[in-house]
Amino acid sequence: MAPLLITGGAGFIGSHTVLVLLEAGHELVVLDNFANSSPLALDRVLELAPAGADQRLHVIDGDVRCAEDLDRAFAAAAAPITGVVHFAGRKAVRESVEQPLLYWDVNLGGTRSLADAMARHGCELVVFSSTATVYGEPEVFPLVETMPTPPVHPYAQTKLAAEQLLAAMVRSRGWRVAALRYFNPVGAHPSGRIGEDPDGIPNNLFPYITQVAAGRLERLRVFGDDYPTADGTGERDYLHVMDLAEAHAVALDYLLQRAEATQITLNLGTGRARSVLEVVQAFERATGIPIPYDVLPRRAGDVPKLEASVQAAAQLLGWQASRSLEQMCSDGWAWQRANPNGYR
Ligand code: WQD
Repeated sequence: MAPLLITGGAGFIGSHTVLVLLEAGHELVVLDNFANSSPLALDRVLELAPAGADQRLHVIDGDVRCAEDLDRAFAAAAAPITGVVHFAGRKAVRESVEQPLLYWDVNLGGTRSLADAMARHGCELVVFSSTATVYGEPEVFPLVETMPTPPVHPYAQTKLAAEQLLAAMVRSRGWRVAALRYFNPVGAHPSGRIGEDPDGIPNNLFPYITQVAAGRLERLRVFGDDYPTADGTGERDYLHVMDLAEAHAVALDYLLQRAEATQITLNLGTGRARSVLEVVQAFERATGIPIPYDVLPRRAGDVPKLEASVQAAAQLLGWQASRSLEQMCSDGWAWQRANPNGYR
């Protein structure tokens, strides 16, 4: 199989996808600056991957915004790179509000410099890590890919702009592009050897819960119970990170099999939103560990609900999420319990 470039391949979603692609027999070049990830994640991936996978994994420490680093990555494999999975980027909503220029630089600037490098190296296929937050503050559910996308913070604005940059390469140069709009990825590989390892106090609900369970944090803060939802707490469409990783492999195969210009934009979710309290209860059921919490005021920037229509990915790719919320909780806990301080 021709080699692929995986930007941000040491990150949470990236490392799980690298494992799935190595299991499928691909040769990979991972470009990562380790700003929000650890090289240890890739060592753990090789532990889990088939024998000989270390001969098919090349790791380049570099930045997706740097043309020289990108050229090193494109030259790192035995044969020319035929496709890219582009994960590298910043993804914290609040950080994007506080540091918009960083987000425009990394998320859009990084995608632009990657596209330049792809053009230089004759590579015309990319699977792009996008986000459900491009839908802004929707009121109609489930969310369909053709619905309006009025993003309300720089994280989502930069991801939508990167989608549009790549779509322009489909129209102008006949590229094959899949923009994958993640809902809320959680959990970990069932081995407990790779998982989510956020820096500092987690912004996101799920790693916060697992750190409370591990005793690293005292109590969960529930941000608002006065939303127009079933129990008043925010509702999100959580999906297992292994389902998400497998979706990337299927999307890649779909693009590799096509010869003509292709642009697909797909939601990746389960199609069923769950509230904060439902996730807490599912975690307690799956692990037997009580999660104490306090209800606090709403968090700025949060929307009441996000829920995916999953028809497009099912019809186009034949993919649908298969792992339950309980499995997300038990697998996420297996990782956190075995690695109380992540990869540190
Ligand atoms: C989920 C729910 C909170 C923390 C995330 C990522 C973003 C993007 C989309 C990929 C909300 C509540 C949270 C806590 C809580 N990812 N919550 N206490 O905001 O949907 O965004 O997914 O593209 O990068 O940030 O996820 O896990 O932060 O919040 O009550 O300590 O949990 O209010 O309802 P969110 P989240």
